[in-house]
Amino acid sequence: MYFGTDYYPEHWVYPYAGTPEEPESRWQRDAELMVAAGINVVRMGEFAWGLYEPEEGKYDFDWMKRAMDVMANTGIQVMLGTPTAAPPIWLAKKHPEILPLDEHGLPKHEGTRKAYCMNSSVYWDYCKKIITELARTLGKHPQLIAWQIENGLGGHNTESSFNEETRRDWHSWLKAKYETIERLNELMGTRFWTQTVTRFEDVPMPMTAPTVFNPALVLDWMRFSSDTIVAFVKMQADLLHELTPGIPVTNNLRALTRCFDHFDVADALDFVGVDSNATIKSKSSENACGIDMLRSLKKSNINTPGGDSGFWVVEQKSGNVNWQEVNSLVRPGVVRLFTYQCISRGATGVLYFLWRQARIGSEKFYGGVLTHDGRGENRVYREISHIGDEIKLLAPALRGTRVVAETCILFSHENEWAMQHGPQPNRYFNQREHIQLFYNALHDRNIPVDFARPTEDLSKYKMVIAPSLKLLAGGEADLLKLYVQNGGTLVGTFNTGLVDEHHIAPDNGYPHDLTDLFGMEVLEFDPLPPGEENHLTFKGAFPTSHLHPAKLWCDLIEPKECQILATYAKDFYTGRPAMTMNTFGLGKAIYIGTMSHQHFYYDLIVWLRQLCNLYPLLKVPDTVEVSLREKEDTKIYFLLNHQNSPVRIQFYKPMHDFLTGSTLQGNHDLPPHGVLVLDEQVVPKAEPEPAA
Ligand code: GLA
Repeated sequence: MYFGTDYYPEHWVYPYAGTPEEPESRWQRDAELMVAAGINVVRMGEFAWGLYEPEEGKYDFDWMKRAMDVMANTGIQVMLGTPTAAPPIWLAKKHPEILPLDEHGLPKHEGTRKAYCMNSSVYWDYCKKIITELARTLGKHPQLIAWQIENGLGGHNTESSFNEETRRDWHSWLKAKYETIERLNELMGTRFWTQTVTRFEDVPMPMTAPTVFNPALVLDWMRFSSDTIVAFVKMQADLLHELTPGIPVTNNLRALTRCFDHFDVADALDFVGVDSNATIKSKSSENACGIDMLRSLKKSNINTPGGDSGFWVVEQKSGNVNWQEVNSLVRPGVVRLFTYQCISRGATGVLYFLWRQARIGSEKFYGGVLTHDGRGENRVYREISHIGDEIKLLAPALRGTRVVAETCILFSHENEWAMQHGPQPNRYFNQREHIQLFYNALHDRNIPVDFARPTEDLSKYKMVIAPSLKLLAGGEADLLKLYVQNGGTLVGTFNTGLVDEHHIAPDNGYPHDLTDLFGMEVLEFDPLPPGEENHLTFKGAFPTSHLHPAKLWCDLIEPKECQILATYAKDFYTGRPAMTMNTFGLGKAIYIGTMSHQHFYYDLIVWLRQLCNLYPLLKVPDTVEVSLREKEDTKIYFLLNHQNSPVRIQFYKPMHDFLTGSTLQGNHDLPPHGVLVLDEQVVPKAEPEPAA
């Protein structure tokens, strides 16, 4: 288990720390305080290009080597960033063509981070040069255990740029995809508004225009921009693998919020790195959902430092952020709670952002492990030292354990792009909110969840939830059918299969290619404005605790072979099916033609749990989050109280409290923001006696 912090030694030299005689003397004190807090790894250098190369071709990596040596003295290991997220000003001055142009064709100027176009071959060349120099100079340092490529991919809305070089790459990308211009015209549907082209070079980039672009073009643009980011990551990963074989590479990803395919980026990395923005105001199930999404990006071929599986949180906020309207302090115990939330969901490394509140720059009032005074007597430092002590105890037991989920939620970026861009049946529909309704219900019942792309092998899951796959490629539909055919339970919803991968609407009924799977057809759909509701009437099989509304979208379903689970209670489609179930091969396909309130999803999960033989990890009050990491002979449960008040838990059988060594039985009060780690040795099942 790696426990660390993001350290910027370049901020802590004279005149900001140290003395004129010994400008770097503070570093030793930092390392001592880190060791005392249980820290065994630091991430450094992701914004250091201007210091590594103050003038073109004049390199200075010595200061970083000295910082790494200080870490070596105290046994702390190092993850180094490639510094490409913040090019030096001299580079933009010499090559202004690297600056990104926005959708109006206007440049975003130098003077901050992220001011570059990722399609610029000049920028690529400079990146390769600095990475090569860095890896040759520091890549063999004994403390180095990992690289972080770039920083904050796509951050500050930098996923796309509209430079001339981007345009050339765009046209090459289209040529590679469509091969002939006739095929492009046909599949992109350019006859609409007569946008046909005779040369690839004439296909526009979706810049500011009088009205909306063809959504098929926008979808390709999103794919192209994503591929640009993936190519940039891969260029760095390949270079680092060649120069420093054996040192794994990662990046700091956020919970699938940026406009690129996070699964594709994760494929190019050795392990997933995560930025966690949990703050006091976040809802626990939203944080949990984000962590599960990120863990799910890479399910195999994981190569972390130290060889454990899982992912790293390379930026866990150690205190307040600086970008909210009001940046309140994070309450005592909450950083610990969020740290355990990440660990309980599979993290094998947690690094706090940032070691010490900077005295300079735009993030100087961001919460740090240390405050500006650097004394190490502050509340957060003490809290993190306490976590550090616990992690030392816990690490050996956690080694080799994993999160195992039998339920999966499907997510694809292409689908999300198809729902974010261009005219939509209902602008108020939000896919993330829809996903969150299902996720909350599973989370609050302590049922572990993975996320997956529809193209993945789903056979290991008992239940797959597919919320609103508006864009569904033919191959994806076939895989879903195969999954159900072989015994899986699939839950699909409204806003599914309205277009194929080319953004062409089907002429053989919605949901595209799945009408046989669900045993019904959606003939029309009626989007409802916010505040307007229909209601659901349930038929026998589906027990309900509340009256459930139908909101935002009502599919008008023509049943064929399916069973009807619920109907609409009003309007001209009163009595028409709203929810159905179909047996298909050995499995079941359930279809929910509308969106409801949270209580509906709680009822749904209670029913589905029985249908699919899914069991909650532990029976505890709903407000306690439970997760499990396991290996053959060990189960480690994490119980987290996200409330401001204590929660009473009843243990029906004795459980071993890992952190205190005591046995818990009967009533136990978990304090506000409290954490329990319970371990259980699994007794292997006795082999049946061979028949005599
Ligand atoms: C991201 C970046 C960090 C820092 C934080 C502040 O996570 O990677 O460099 O700017 O945001 O929110």
